[in-house]
Amino acid sequence: MSETVIGIPQSFADAKINAERYADMYARSINEPDAFWADEAKRLDWYKEPTKISDVSFAKDDLHIRWFEDGELNVSYNCIDRHLPERAGKVALIWEGDNPAFHHSITYAQLHNHVCRFANELKKIGVKKGDRVTLYMPMIPEAAYAMLACTRIGAVHSVVFGGFSPDALAGRINDCQSEFVVTADQGVRGNKGVPLKANVDKALEQAPDVKAVLCIRHTGAQVPWVEGRDFWHHDLALEVDAKCEPEPMKAEDPLFILYTSGSTGKPKGVLHTTGGYLVWASMTHEYTFDHREDDVFWCTADVGWVTGHTYIVYGPLANGATSLMYEGVPTWPGPDRCWRIVAKHKVTTIYTAPTAIRALMREGDEPVSKHDRSSLRLLGSVGEPINPEAWRWYHEVVGDKRCPIVDTWWQTETGGHLITPLPGAHELKPGSASFPMFGVQPALVDTEGNLLPDEGAQEGNLVLLGSWPGQMRTVYGDHQRFVETYFSTYENMYFTGDGARRDADGYWWITGRVDDVLNVSGHRLGTAEIESALVAHELVAEAAVVGYPHDLKGQGIYCYVTLVAGLEPTEETEKTLKAHVRQEIGPVATPDVIQFSPGLPKTRSGKIMRRILRKIAEGEYDKLGDISTLADPGVVEDLIEGHKIST
Ligand code: PRX
Repeated sequence: MSETVIGIPQSFADAKINAERYADMYARSINEPDAFWADEAKRLDWYKEPTKISDVSFAKDDLHIRWFEDGELNVSYNCIDRHLPERAGKVALIWEGDNPAFHHSITYAQLHNHVCRFANELKKIGVKKGDRVTLYMPMIPEAAYAMLACTRIGAVHSVVFGGFSPDALAGRINDCQSEFVVTADQGVRGNKGVPLKANVDKALEQAPDVKAVLCIRHTGAQVPWVEGRDFWHHDLALEVDAKCEPEPMKAEDPLFILYTSGSTGKPKGVLHTTGGYLVWASMTHEYTFDHREDDVFWCTADVGWVTGHTYIVYGPLANGATSLMYEGVPTWPGPDRCWRIVAKHKVTTIYTAPTAIRALMREGDEPVSKHDRSSLRLLGSVGEPINPEAWRWYHEVVGDKRCPIVDTWWQTETGGHLITPLPGAHELKPGSASFPMFGVQPALVDTEGNLLPDEGAQEGNLVLLGSWPGQMRTVYGDHQRFVETYFSTYENMYFTGDGARRDADGYWWITGRVDDVLNVSGHRLGTAEIESALVAHELVAEAAVVGYPHDLKGQGIYCYVTLVAGLEPTEETEKTLKAHVRQEIGPVATPDVIQFSPGLPKTRSGKIMRRILRKIAEGEYDKLGDISTLADPGVVEDLIEGHKIST
């Protein structure tokens, strides 16, 4: 069967980047990188234009990554003030509430007013340049105001996803010694309240250094209150004025920290800096989405994830775009909610995750087709490999075969897109992330670290050979961990943790993580985190967690648990442990399956053989490989017998 290739539609014939331009620009970005990036940096307004463009070494003992080092700029100025002469009345943010009756638009002039006031409120509660401010927010415009207000005064934000538990929040507050928290009384998703302020209060029992909490009244719910520590945003707003000069920042000053899971240990604080990140956010938003002035751009991610940072807030606003922020869930109050939003706000570009596409696909075609989608011109996918079935449905049913799909591969660490088709430049192959963004040099290595030939079809581990401006600079407070995690597996290369193949036409296909990181409904989770939550429970002696293919979530969480001696598992135990993980980390980490087993497969030196556990969870009993090195091969039979999913 010949491979499906979808041509470039006529509507993208005049795209900013066509095939020829892509080839020229890509070649220049690799052959004359400093000249290329000096030009791209001009997309921003600088107080001081950079003359030193890059200074990078991926060598383990001299790791440093610096871009535009002597430049000075301010992110909120670039996302707001500089648009005012031409776009003061243009809508910057469209907010669509969980309840479809609630929605409003914020112009660039209004955004300026809100952000300046917010910045002054932060100053009033004691925030200074360089301080870390934790944001634990629902999807409301104030989340964007708070982020931009931090950047305006040079504070470093750390947004913690509102679905994380108080424990997880406390860990993240303490890790970056954040003394300030911004939150709301409650979030709302699918008509249910999320007790954000109450969670903050619980978290602060374990984070005693927090001096002030700024709280937004969103639903009006009663919330716990600590006089002297807690402040209402609407009260402070009355006390501050709407003038706040942006603070000139050095390009390499920290911009934000965002925690993400790795294969070992606690989540790491990925640190992004000011100049390089914003150039990358702006450039990728413009080229990948072929951004046009009258676009209505809807990225469905939460601002708690990097996708929300780069493609709800920083990329679109740096480009003077209209960005839609949706508070709720895709299927409430009905399965057609997303398409209702598209019709209502005349959305031109949707950017969402395969897990959402699969969930919507289940609802059938009718909820989609009954709404006018003629405004749509481009569709995007992010977060996990997209299966061909979901890709086709998205293309044929949602996009009426008119709209190209940009399948964008990237990571929290990369700041923005690294491998993606550009809609006017590349024919599409369903499921392929296609080609590298400017300046990005992907390559494949075998398990020994040998580079595979850069021609012809190849498959291996995905590495990046050089830096790009949006690259993370360090793990906050633990530079050695940065070195170990990304630059120690293969010498002089950034290791992505993903596997990939490149086909004979040069298209890249991401095959998924090759380490112990799970991708559950597009959320990134470390197996180690879930294991440590499980073993922290008094009933559990030992636990091992692996992923398995899940129709809707992409990957599900499969836990093997050995209880302390003498305990017999019951349904109740299973429920207790699921609830425990949920409470320790958050609902996204709730185990799908818990299999109790008296033992785990271990080598004679005591190492758990995860390869075997993965194969059993996947139901691939005939692919267990060599089990003769196990201390007790009999364990395997017990595990197969106890396997919980029908295959
Ligand atoms: O495995 C890759 C997968 O998501 C991981 C990064 O997760 P996170 O840092 O949470 O960022 C998600 C948003 C960028 C990657 O290592 N991933 C992301 N996008 C794709 C993908 N896998 C396949 N195709 C993609 N388009």
